[in-house]
Amino acid sequence: MTNITVELASCSFCGKHKDRVGNLIVGDGVAICNECVHLCQDLLTDPEHAKTVKHKKTTQLNPREIHQHLDQYIVGQDAAKIALSVAIVNHYKRISSATRNTQIQKANILMIGPTGTGKTLLARTVAEYLDVPFVITDATTLTEAGYVGDDVENLISRLYRASGNSIERTQRGIVFLDEVDKISRKSESATISRDVSGEGVQQALLKLVEGTRCKISAGGGRKSPGSDSIEIDTTDILFVVGGAFVGLDTIVKNRVRGTAMGFGADFSTADQTDAVTPDDLVRYGLIPEFVGRFPSTVSLQSLDQAQLITILSQVKNNLVSQYQWLFGLDEVELEFESEALTEVAERAVANRTGARGLQSEMERVLIPHMYNLAHYREQGQLKVVIDKSQINTPMTCNGNTQ
Ligand SMILES: Nc1ncnc2c1ncn2[C@@H]1O[C@H](COP(=O)(O)OP(=O)(O)OP(=O)(O)O)[C@@H](O)[C@H]1O
Ligand SMILES: [Mg+2]
Repeated sequence: MTNITVELASCSFCGKHKDRVGNLIVGDGVAICNECVHLCQDLLTDPEHAKTVKHKKTTQLNPREIHQHLDQYIVGQDAAKIALSVAIVNHYKRISSATRNTQIQKANILMIGPTGTGKTLLARTVAEYLDVPFVITDATTLTEAGYVGDDVENLISRLYRASGNSIERTQRGIVFLDEVDKISRKSESATISRDVSGEGVQQALLKLVEGTRCKISAGGGRKSPGSDSIEIDTTDILFVVGGAFVGLDTIVKNRVRGTAMGFGADFSTADQTDAVTPDDLVRYGLIPEFVGRFPSTVSLQSLDQAQLITILSQVKNNLVSQYQWLFGLDEVELEFESEALTEVAERAVANRTGARGLQSEMERVLIPHMYNLAHYREQGQLKVVIDKSQINTPMTCNGNTQ
């Protein structure tokens, strides 16, 4: 068996290439340069410095700036970006002690949108931007374990660990609950699960979202008999939940059809998620109390071909540049003709997998080349150009077309 190791050539923190820094210390899957080591040292030894960085992040937040940050990584989805940035800013305004105002309700967010449109990416990117502890959890794992209470505790334990074991910071954190459509009452995944129904999980989450006191072990793990336990109040924790809600469009269409009594009513306007009402979500299988705790419903739209091309080749850390970097390690240049990119995007649109489909398309086309990279270099072939025909008929590993 051969072990494949990829040598890290850039700092995982600032992204600078090893040629541009004095030293690059490489660990298992991460690397840090001498400049970042010094910066970390300054932060650790100068508490005032560390404090001002944090202070700025949570009390001087501006929705426009959050939006701009999200724009670097996420294409389109403007409505979702705006709703998310405003909700985040309001949340921290609400809980900041200086301006505490009970009039502002906690605005937990529900994100609905087809697969591969950026729900999880949005959540991740915004949390990374904020200097607050955050956890992302898949709602289906709450179903699978079978012991709902324990899992909820586990979620808060993870948040506590992410906060550096600070009760105060944990209580201001963010929890992203993904795939929440899978815990609906009628969903197939709920019916095949054992004794815990989707409804049961929703019930357990209600208290957590609303605000409850949750006991976890002081070590950050689950509470076990005899261990010191601490109490976390979840009232000020922001919850963002997301799901693809496959089939919700039919519910919306049926409702529109039912209420549009007029002759020749236009049903085509019942776009997938635009017109979603709390009642539609209840019909889908969420319990009314759960829906009621997410006053901010955000719809993400399907991505069109032009947006998919931007995702492929222009956003920060896009797929094309990732593969170019990978080829570059073998000193081979990788180029895509623009028609090839258009074709990749077209195929992803046809597959209805959103941006999720882009990577599998790229892999399909590039694997034969990556297999042969060392061989190319030996032969003096230092450039690979991908044209449209290769997208439709990728090369085989022997260098022939299929
Ligand atoms: N709007 C977008 N802009 C940039 N990249 C995107 C966008 N949407 C999706 N992607 C890319 O596609 C991948 C999958 O996206 P993501 O995980 O956010 O999808 P999702 O909406 O959560 O889908 P699912 O419902 O299947 O969980 C991401 O890693 C990201 O690279
Ligand atoms: Mg997701």
